[in-house]
Amino acid sequence: MGLENGFEAVASVNQIPSEGVLAVVRSDGQRICLIRSCGRVSAVADNCTHQDFEMALGDVLPDGSIQCAWHGARFDCVTGAVRQGPATDPLPVFEVRLEGDEVLVGPLSERQGPGHAPCVRTIAGQEL
Ligand code: FES
Repeated sequence: MGLENGFEAVASVNQIPSEGVLAVVRSDGQRICLIRSCGRVSAVADNCTHQDFEMALGDVLPDGSIQCAWHGARFDCVTGAVRQGPATDPLPVFEVRLEGDEVLVGPLSERQGPGHAPCVRTIAGQEL
């Protein structure tokens, strides 16, 4: 695993539970929460924007959101936009690539509307 064009391999797809999350740490110390939902992978910051709780301890919900385990804030898994308070700021979203079975995480996605530009990737063979 190493950096390639700003992207770093952080896990294999199979390490992320289906409809679940996996906490990883990049070599620069950034804590990332990988989300696998509906056959797709996205990467958000592992720090809730409410009071910094670990998002990887939360739950992925069937509506495509992730819910913080502490006070219940909900964020869109793809854009990081707030879907339910008490959080008011979106979760930072990181660019993500899939190369074979490897998940690579890149730079922070740009802010767009209430969240960030979507950077989700579909797992091969799991297209909806
Ligand atoms: S720390 Fe996540 S909702 Fe409060």
